[in-house]
Order: sequence, then structure tokens, then C-alpha cells
Amino acid sequence: MKLRVALRLLEIQRVLLKHGLDAYVRATHLYRPLRFVLYASPGMWLGRRRTGARGERLRLALEELGPIFVKFGQAVSTRRDLLPADIADELAKLQDRVPPFDGRLARARIESSLGQPVTELFAQFEETPLAAASIAQVHAATLTDGREVVVKVLRPGMRAEIERDLEVLEALAALAQRYWSEGRRLRPTELVAEYRKTVLDELDLMREAGNASQLKRNFAGSELLYVPEVHWDYCRTDVMVMERIHGVPISDMAALRAAGTDIARLAENGVRIFFTQVFRHNFFHGDMHPGNIFVLIDDPKRPRYAAIDFGIVGTLDPRDQHYLAENFLAVFDRDYRRVAQLHLESGWVPAGTRIDEMESAVRTVCEPIFDRPLKDISFGRILLRLFEISRRFDMQIQPQLLLLQKTLLNVEGLGRQLYPELDIWSTASPILREWMRERVSFGALLKSIRAHAPEILEAARGIPALLAAQVRRGSGAAPAVPAPPAAGLSELRAELREQGRRRDLVTLGAALLVGGLFWLAVSGGHGTPGWALVAAGLITALAAAGL
Ligand SMILES: Nc1ncnc2c1ncn2[C@@H]1O[C@H](COP(=O)(O)OP(=O)(O)OP(=O)(O)O)[C@@H](O)[C@H]1O
Ligand SMILES: [Mg+2]
Repeated sequence: MKLRVALRLLEIQRVLLKHGLDAYVRATHLYRPLRFVLYASPGMWLGRRRTGARGERLRLALEELGPIFVKFGQAVSTRRDLLPADIADELAKLQDRVPPFDGRLARARIESSLGQPVTELFAQFEETPLAAASIAQVHAATLTDGREVVVKVLRPGMRAEIERDLEVLEALAALAQRYWSEGRRLRPTELVAEYRKTVLDELDLMREAGNASQLKRNFAGSELLYVPEVHWDYCRTDVMVMERIHGVPISDMAALRAAGTDIARLAENGVRIFFTQVFRHNFFHGDMHPGNIFVLIDDPKRPRYAAIDFGIVGTLDPRDQHYLAENFLAVFDRDYRRVAQLHLESGWVPAGTRIDEMESAVRTVCEPIFDRPLKDISFGRILLRLFEISRRFDMQIQPQLLLLQKTLLNVEGLGRQLYPELDIWSTASPILREWMRERVSFGALLKSIRAHAPEILEAARGIPALLAAQVRRGSGAAPAVPAPPAAGLSELRAELREQGRRRDLVTLGAALLVGGLFWLAVSGGHGTPGWALVAAGLITALAAAGL
């Protein structure tokens, strides 16, 4: 292990002990060999903090340890059902109340990045931060045209801190991969590699601004979600300026209730937004903790969400997206055999897995939770069951689905807090069914042909030459076959001639079909000649088959 990594591990241990979290240190195998080094060091005992509740001590330790630990705390904080309330309350503070850095420093950073003093950039600028979270803090400001904005500024030194902890994670993952019996199946090194990409992407606020504007476009005119406008002229890698959102934080249930918000609708819309992002747009917000979600209640009966913080977004490979949707639908239909088959087809379980056994295991998990509101479903128990199944059927972790799974965990946790009566099945199923219908519709087929028009055109250009070659071959050019035996020579010739004709017809049919489809694609599906060509192609192909 590299010295840098070992020193950081010691540092982590020091911070945990300093905040009186000895139990965590003792419980971690990793620290066994290092434990005595620290217990023996006098400095350790001096800075020790025993006061304060355990939740508070844990939060302080995570804050001191830096962004990756804060993010971990944020993610865990969305699952109140799996945490003691005192710890959940403290961890929730990591969502938007992490101690900020000095406002003067933020101001200097904005000025050097944008090349102008804030007094010129803005009509008004608040040096005291409005809020702060894992990697950035935001300051309220007003543009010279009077529009209210927030200025998001990266915390100093983030990249170095994150790189350092990624190195630790990578070292631990490498150890786990090598020495842990589950390493092969759970692929820790690949998981960390996937995490590395996500977390480093977050440090480029230009990228975040791009994500924000894409998400805004995806939900333009939607009643479900509002996305703040990006002010591009004020965006740089470490500074981002966007419209200020005045909404109620999603965690402030008291305020939402007092305003008479339709909570059921709000919760259902949350599920709709999630499924719309994942399946319809294939572009989902991947940091769904309450610190990043507000509710706009101008009309409390029709509440809208407003999302912020677009540093992490996810997209799925179309193949994964398809299998996921099919899996969801199969579960909605209680078709557990299909779920098992899909897992096999997609390679998520090894070839040779017994379908009937897997079907029965999936049934055992799903059947008890059907048609039940969230409050009657123990997510913790389901999770344990799922872990059991995945171990039993030797399922490999799919690192590319990690972000989606984390988001699902967050969204489900949020739904639970917001509206325990929520029936996820009945809210999500129509959206997915609709999406599936659209995907297999003729319109979608045309769209995909249109998207591939250049390749089709290229292939079509080769068809005349192909046809000419076929005609030449059919009109007497000798086919390249070994010399046939003398007996039955004439029958063989007749057979070859017939094969040649059939081949010609097949080629012609294919050419007509491709031409027709191409016509339809470029004419947006309205061209009658296109349909005629398609029909002619089909008839020719059928004739060839029946010859
Ligand atoms: N457009 C906005 N309007 C109002 N408040 C905002 C806006 N953007 C950010 N905030 C406030 O600032 C806080 C921190 O901003 P943001 O979530 O973007 O930072 P972050 O460090 O990237 O967060 P995270 O730790 O979630 O990754 C938010 O939780 C929110 O309270
Ligand atoms: Mg945030």
C-alpha cells in the first residue's frame, strides 16, 4: 500500500477517534493492525471529543473528513427508515448546511474567474453564503437587470481532496477484489472506477450548467418539474450563476402541510419525474437528496418540483434501459418467469442459471409487496432478500447501473417520507407501458431508420452493382462450384439456374424494401411511393421464397 494511502487511513482513524466514534474503528477489520499505533499516540488523546450526541459526533467527523464522506452521509440520510432518528436528523444537515468557507474567499474566486469585481458583475451580492453542501456554496445576488440569482462557487482544494480519497478507495477496492471471496461478483474496483468518473465530473461547473440547461429543455412546458435558468455569461469551471429558486425545501413537511399542498399528488409526480427521466429522456438527475429538491407552491393543489444541483446526471446504455423497462413491466405483470428470463438474456446472471429456481425466488420477494403502499413495505427486508438472491444466483454487480440504483434508493426513501400511502406500482406502470408502446410503434421504427439513413443510403448505393453482378451471373457466367459428376449434370444445372433466379429476386425484393423504408423515413412517413415500394419489395421477397 502506498504511503500516502496509509497516512490517510491513519488520518481517518484519528478523526473517528477524535469524535469518540471508537466503536466504528473497532468494528472495522481494516484498522486492526493500525489501532495500536494511534492509541499509543498522546496527541490522539488530547484532541479527543466525547461530548455531544452520537449523531452530532458522526456528522462532525464526516464534515471534517471531506466531500466524499459528506456525500456518503447525504446518501444515507435519505433512508430514514433504515436509520435511528437521531442519526438521520444530524445527517440531514449535510444536505445543505455544511459549514461554509469564508465569503471573502468566495468573492475573490468569483472575481478572478469572471475577471471583474462583484460590484460590477452584480447589482447586489451577499457575501454571507445562503447555503453550503459537499463541494460548493452558494451566494445570493442580483443581476444588473434586477433578476435574482445564486452564485455557486466551488470550495477551494476540492480536486486534491477528492483525488486523495479516491486513491484510498481504489486501494481498498483492490484489496477487496483480491482477498474477499465476494470480490469477483461485486467488482469493487470497477465500482470505484465508475464512482471516480461521477464525482470528478461534478467539479466542472460548466458541465453542471450544461446539464441544467439540457434538463430544462427536457422538461420545457412540463407541469412536473421546474429547472432554474443558467446565466451562461457568468459561468466558468468553478463558478456558476443561475436563477434563484424560491421554494419550500422538500424536507420541510410542516411548511408544505401548512400551505395546504396536495402531498399525494406531489409524491406521485416524484415517481413520474423519475420514470420519465430514466426512460423517456434517458437523462436523469443523479443526486436526489432533499437538499437538492424544492417545491413550488404558487398553487398548492398543483405543486411543482424545482430541482437544483445538476453536477451528477446519468444516462443508460439503450440495452440496459430496455432490459430494465422489461424487468419493471414483468414485475408489474407479476410475470416472474419473464423476470428470470430477462436476467439470463441480459447476462445479469450467468448462463446456465435455472430459470424455474430464479422465478420462484423473485416471486418470494415481489408477491408480498404487491398493491401495498410504501408504509406497509419494509424496504430493508426487501434489500436483504435481494442481496440473498443475488448471492445465490451468482449475480454480478453492474457498475454502469450503480448511479441509477443509488437514485432509486433516494427517490424511494423520499417518497416514503413524503407520502407513506404512495403506491409506486400504479403510478409508474402507465408511464412505462406508454413508453414501451411508443418504442415498438411504427413511428419509432421510422425514427430509427431516419437516424440510420446515412448507413442505409450507403448500403443502397451498392445495390445496383450487386444486382448487375447477379444478372451477369444468372445470364450464363459460370458459377464457382467444383466440377460436378457427369451423372445428373443437367438437373444440377437446372437447380443452379433456379437458385440464381431466386437470389436475384431476393436481392431485388430487398432493394425495393430498403428503398421504400428509406423513402418513408426521409419523408416522415407520408410518402405514398414509399409504401408502394415497401409493398413491392415484400411481394417480390415472398415470390422468391415461394419459387
Ligand atoms: N438555484 C438555487 N436557488 C436557491 N437555492 C439554491 C440554488 N442552488 C443551490 N441552492 C442552495 O445551495 C445549496 C448548495 O448548492 P448545491 O446543492 O448546488 O451544492 P453542492 O455542493 O453541489 O451540493 P451536493 O453536496 O448536494 O453535491 C443547496 O442545497 C440549496 O440550498
Ligand atoms: Mg446539493
